[in-house]
Amino acid sequence: MWVLGIDTSCDDTGVGLVKDGRVVVNLIRSQVDLHQAYGGVVPELASREHLKAIRPLTERALAEAGISPRALDLIAATRGPGLIGALLVGFTFAKGLAFGLDRPFLGVHHLEAHIVAAWPEGPSPPFLALVASGGHTHLYEVLDLGRYRLLGATLDDAAGEAFDKVARLLGLGFPGGPELERLAEEAAQEGVEEAPFAVPLKEQKGLDFSFSGLKTRAVQLLEKGYSRQAIALGFQRAAVGHLLEVLLKAKERTGHTTLLVAGGVAANKTLQAELKRAGLSVFFPPKGLSQDNGAMVALAAHRRALKGEASHPLSLDARAYWPLEEVSHLTGVE
Ligand code: KG4
Ligand code: ZN
Repeated sequence: MWVLGIDTSCDDTGVGLVKDGRVVVNLIRSQVDLHQAYGGVVPELASREHLKAIRPLTERALAEAGISPRALDLIAATRGPGLIGALLVGFTFAKGLAFGLDRPFLGVHHLEAHIVAAWPEGPSPPFLALVASGGHTHLYEVLDLGRYRLLGATLDDAAGEAFDKVARLLGLGFPGGPELERLAEEAAQEGVEEAPFAVPLKEQKGLDFSFSGLKTRAVQLLEKGYSRQAIALGFQRAAVGHLLEVLLKAKERTGHTTLLVAGGVAANKTLQAELKRAGLSVFFPPKGLSQDNGAMVALAAHRRALKGEASHPLSLDARAYWPLEEVSHLTGVE
């Protein structure tokens, strides 16, 4: 069964092809260069770029897989959440393709796609899932495909957003996460002493996250004369320490020892190492599937199709705001 998955929720155009649950092609056209000049994503520009990229990228994906559009059995696209103009490009394109080819169409929740990408044949629910990206830091209890309970979320900045902002402060490029990680790695290798950051929300009763204090602290430390390397190292240690603390607390409270980590921040090697050391059984998305991409959308649609989910009506709307807990168990349409 061939599934085409499209993600245009933010600033990357993602087109993926999955055959029987295995990723065959996963193309991402990044808009990073375009938005870099503005220091963040400009929604209108993102939509226009998606519009230019979506058809050629889909044609290239089909060519690389060596199949014609007629070979597709299911067409899926991210329905939300995301930038509405950007979402509509991929969502409408996918609906048009499904209509033209007379194939079923599924609108997928972006966060469910991130979770499914890290959810191999392996762990059976219930388990914990952390989605940490530029736009989200959410901790869920996954009870089944389509059944999610929100345990905690960021009270301010998303984890990736904090990495991006501190990276910008340190004069690094965008997206800042990988660059900041590189600088911290260099600092650790050179034996640089880390700048003093406190782990946020140490006293909280809940399972929430907060990253904006770390960003403010980075500004102060830079003014005080701490080196960029020391700040990168200290910030990363505190940000990862914070994620770890909340996750261990969630493990204690729920009794779940399996954790999926999804979203761009899952690529962070310090986070990966610390989580493995913490006695949790951790699953990360395979390489190329942690950032926004189309294959994860195809994987999620494939999994839903196997559970018997039929085609969504082509009148389905895209949703800028769509909490994952509201996604329905099977139909995905409410
Ligand atoms: O999931 P994603 O590709 O897009 C969003 O939905 O936001 O996540 C991108 C985010 C960016 O904020 C980026 O800086 C962060 O993930 N990121 C990282 C790393 N790689 C990407 N953060 C920390 N360490 C990394 N290695
Ligand atoms: Zn994402």
